[in-house]
Amino acid sequence: METWLAIASKRDLRDYADTAIPPDVETRILDAGRVSGSSRNTQKWEFVVVEQAKQELSRAVYAPDNVATAALVIAIVGDAAGFDVGRASQNMMLAAWDEGVGSCPNGIADAEEAARICGGEVKMILSFGYAAKPRDVNARSADEWSARAKRAPLDELVRRA
Ligand SMILES: Cc1cc2nc3c(=O)[nH]c(=O)nc-3n(C[C@H](O)[C@H](O)[C@H](O)COP(=O)(O)O)c2cc1C
Repeated sequence: METWLAIASKRDLRDYADTAIPPDVETRILDAGRVSGSSRNTQKWEFVVVEQAKQELSRAVYAPDNVATAALVIAIVGDAAGFDVGRASQNMMLAAWDEGVGSCPNGIADAEEAARICGGEVKMILSFGYAAKPRDVNARSADEWSARAKRAPLDELVRRA
């Protein structure tokens, strides 16, 4: 997928098909996190692929179904700063989308429980899966996806100083 099309068409997905993510796609998603930049290249993170504990972890987030029904759940664990966690998260979600896999970040409702399950402080929980109702990304141009995004317009966000 062309980069701008991937960025502009990415939406957070919560309704997942019951379809497994192939191992090579899972590895690509994790590698996209690995290559992310971080403050002074400290890489203070581990990427925990949550498998057996998925149902248990789902009860520690605000929207349990996002995690319980996802084909792949990755927790970013460690001391990484928020900006670094965001960079790794978005890299993983865009790499997934490039492979046709949707995703959603998950707010953590019970940080202690999430830390116990994942073996360290959990900074983000990402859920991934193919869409229950797939969309044809190529049905629109990148600029059309951008124009349709429910986001504030650039002229409200950008100013010059
Ligand atoms: C830090 C963070 C936490 C989020 N937590 C949740 C969550 O707990 N449950 C959820 O369904 N979506 C969560 N989201 C997804 C947002 O709701 C989503 O990014 C926003 O609504 C835009 O969605 P769209 O890309 O589909 O337009 C979270 C997003 C971020 C950045």
